[in-house]
Amino acid sequence: MTGVAITGWGAALPERVVTNEELTTLFETSDEWIFERSGIRARRAATGPFVDPAPPPHPPESGLGTTGRLAAEAGRIALERAGVDPKAISLLILCTTTPDQLIPASSASVAAALGISTGAMDLNAACAGFTYGLVTASGLIGAGAERVLLIGAETLSRATNWEDRTNAFLFGDGAGAVVVEAVPGEGCLLGWDLGVDGNLVSLLYAQHGSGMVMRGKEVFRRAVLATVQSANASLERAKLSIDDIALFVPHQANIRIMEAAASRLGLPLDRVASVIDRTGNTSSASIPLALVDALERGRLSDGDNILLAGFGAGMTWASAVWRWQDR
Ligand code: UT7
Repeated sequence: MTGVAITGWGAALPERVVTNEELTTLFETSDEWIFERSGIRARRAATGPFVDPAPPPHPPESGLGTTGRLAAEAGRIALERAGVDPKAISLLILCTTTPDQLIPASSASVAAALGISTGAMDLNAACAGFTYGLVTASGLIGAGAERVLLIGAETLSRATNWEDRTNAFLFGDGAGAVVVEAVPGEGCLLGWDLGVDGNLVSLLYAQHGSGMVMRGKEVFRRAVLATVQSANASLERAKLSIDDIALFVPHQANIRIMEAAASRLGLPLDRVASVIDRTGNTSSASIPLALVDALERGRLSDGDNILLAGFGAGMTWASAVWRWQDR
């Protein structure tokens, strides 16, 4: 039997920190309002009104844009930590809603930057993307792939409508990556659940060339429901109860959504991983950023069960129960 394990991890954030206070120069708001409604104090930005000079436009032949650069940096750190040669990677999966261009997939340039030539693809399942990617990577390993480099990377600052005070404060840029490897035995993916309801596209979308539009209250309500239902489905598949979960790593969308989901699942807040105060919502990157932060703080020990759960535009949702193994 072939199982899967995470053997390396890495994160990358743009240098520029944008505080809530700075957003008051764009629209009427306050640090108190944003923090109280979302738990966010600051986010990182690679583009947008606070980045000076703006990154140069990148002609197709120049390769990496901001998403690709962040992805390559997180991926390089994850490969180094795993001690894996890029040439030994069977496939690169780049989860992103903000690719650097329409064509080609940003994963092609990231693969070139890292020295991977065995296969690369983008995966867009919005903020559920990383968990979709983890399930996909595990399935590929079951089918014979040896190692997958899985990256979640976003430049949401490029898709943000900086004039819309109802949601511009939520989003940030960043990347997180893991190396997923084949291991003998049952491995770490104990249960998973994926879902989509494409009738809900109008709740959150961005057309080509224009910023995000979001019905925040409705997304909030459905996000809590989807997270809880999906998490319970994964737990059931894993034949575990919530008491068996050492750490919940939810999509970092809003601290109130994370806390509401944790409370409905019956999880105390000290078992919730959170980086939202300093990253904001980084969509596909949010779960790996929170996971890497938890690992760097020594919050995970061998044998711990983790619950990952995300939801996003589509609407999509995804969860997974993963047994942490020190490797
Ligand atoms: O990855 C998935 C993506 N999205 C999400 O997960 C977002 C889900 N939704 C949310 O997180 C919340 O709905 C928000 C944080 C976006 C908003 O919080 P809310 O509690 O739903 O606030 P609201 O939209 O109901 O706004 C409350 C009030 C309104 O004023 P009135 O109508 O009560 O007079 C807004 O006009 O706050 C006002 N408001 C603001 N005030 C100060 C809206 N935006 C701002 C702002 N600063 N930036």
